[in-house]
Amino acid sequence: MIGNDLDVAKAFLQEGKTVAIPTETVYGLAANALDKEAVLSIFQIKNRPHFDPLIIHTHSISEFEKYVTDVPKPLLLLAEAFTPGPITLLLPKKNIIPDIVTSGLDKVAIRIPNHPLTLELLRSINFPLAAPSANPFGYVSPTSAEHVNKQLGDKIPYILDGGTCHVGLESTIIGIEENQIVVYRLGGLSIEAIEEVVGSVTVHLNQSSNPTAPGMLKSHYAPHIPVIITPIEDYINNHPNKKIGVISFFKNHSSENVNCFCLSKDANMNEAAQNLFTALRHFDDTDVEVIITEKLPDSFLGRAINDRLNRAAAR
Ligand code: TXA
Ligand code: MG
Repeated sequence: MIGNDLDVAKAFLQEGKTVAIPTETVYGLAANALDKEAVLSIFQIKNRPHFDPLIIHTHSISEFEKYVTDVPKPLLLLAEAFTPGPITLLLPKKNIIPDIVTSGLDKVAIRIPNHPLTLELLRSINFPLAAPSANPFGYVSPTSAEHVNKQLGDKIPYILDGGTCHVGLESTIIGIEENQIVVYRLGGLSIEAIEEVVGSVTVHLNQSSNPTAPGMLKSHYAPHIPVIITPIEDYINNHPNKKIGVISFFKNHSSENVNCFCLSKDANMNEAAQNLFTALRHFDDTDVEVIITEKLPDSFLGRAINDRLNRAAAR
């Protein structure tokens, strides 16, 4: 069921059920993070391996002390500057957080999503919500209630509809190692914005395909149709008889055999980020044989968009 009734969402969550929730980044598949059984059901519904830990969601920085033993100063500065917003912090967990949430790691990922409905929901319950993106494991994240409904609608009792996600990329994941700020996942908050607050950061993207490594897998965010990053016009010219899907930054390449999705006609990076996952999903409903796409300028959200395109193209 899709709706925007907070009381319904709250009642299911209090019963230990799983509910899809809107955030500014992507929709999450949420359950009570303090209830092991509820958390287990998230993994089952998503078909997610247990070595891939979950992010917990809360409504304010003052709640952090319930779940973590320490917030290092630079991470607190980032939290104060950017929450609620598309940033996730890795912090040393308290025992109240079940090991299944963190896949046995001693740090928990925590974030404050910037969505009015979900913030109100979080304020109305007395537990944090564990929530991965609300898609089957390995597939593209959902940026609308409709996206969630299509793949998981029959597996969950309720989808809280908060409209289209206005950032459209998952949160940026940040931690600290030996006084150095480390970014583990590029996302909706740019490196440039982070460095304005805390100075230079290290970017450590885990691109492992080793299933024992927690964090990000090399092949991820992938639609069912193969994705190739290549010069678009050359590819189209060399394959006149192929049905081609194109995801372009701003240029329209449509023709008889080419179905083109422009991320932003005005070449606006934020708009491109908002549309990216809709674009990747779009072609699964068409008869194109391949999706051709191009890298964006590698700065601000372009960097995170390129990261997602690389993972969508990895096989
Ligand atoms: O924007 C977002 O972050 C969305 C919305 C729903 O909040 N959530 C999201 O969750 O993208 P998920 O599960 O799809 O991605 C979370 C990533 C995973 O790659 C996971 O491995 C990493 O965060 N992660 C979670 N807890 C971690 C931990 N304790 N240590 C290292 N990585 C962690
Ligand atoms: Mg995900």
